Amino acid sequence: MRFDLITIFPQMLQTAVNESILKRAQVSGKIKIFVHDLRDYTKDKHKKVDDKPFGGGPGMLMSAQPIVDAVAKIKGRRKAKVILTCPTGKRLDQCLVKTFAKEKNLIIISGHYEGIDERVRKLVVDESVSIGDYILTGGEFASLVMVDAIARLVPGVLGKHESLHCESFEENLLEYPQYTRPADFRGLKVPDVLLSGNHADIEKWRKQQAHKITKDKRPDLF
Ligand code: 6GU
Repeated sequence: MRFDLITIFPQMLQTAVNESILKRAQVSGKIKIFVHDLRDYTKDKHKKVDDKPFGGGPGMLMSAQPIVDAVAKIKGRRKAKVILTCPTGKRLDQCLVKTFAKEKNLIIISGHYEGIDERVRKLVVDESVSIGDYILTGGEFASLVMVDAIARLVPGVLGKHESLHCESFEENLLEYPQYTRPADFRGLKVPDVLLSGNHADIEKWRKQQAHKITKDKRPDLF
């Protein structure tokens, strides 16, 4: 799977995707991530990518020309889904992540300022996406969240010890509590059942715990 990220802060994205599992997945060729500096596509001689809103109002808007040209150039003859990060977009959840993971090529634009010239949406954006009900200083972290969540669903990106099964949200349940050594830490003991070696009992306990935790913390998931 190929990701093309368009941003006014390329270093911010490049640094983050060159660590950990995303780095390994690129080295092994499971995914490709290209970071593009929006300013490389502006026709403005001062490399400006924003301007004042017509009709007045606070702040600046991202201009149409640099983004529309960047998307056209990056897309070339490839088919790609174009996502814009935007606080008013569709809320990202695991279901939407799975839909995006089916794509071969994703272009993700990190939104900025007070917003974006509406014609960008009309001309090149397929989907506006928000990562939750709070406001970020810009779309870069939202783009990273998306790349991270989508990339780990690409076959081979996770190793066999980084299981896709039995994890939070996969069955609309939060994960059961887990423990590692020591069995007693500062007087806090690991539940006996986990030391019992009885796999049927352990499985049953984990299911009960997952239900209890979900009911307590996220009843909306049921
Ligand atoms: Cl995609 N952008 C910004 N600026 N804030 C957000 C967001 C996106 N998603 C949640 N908050």
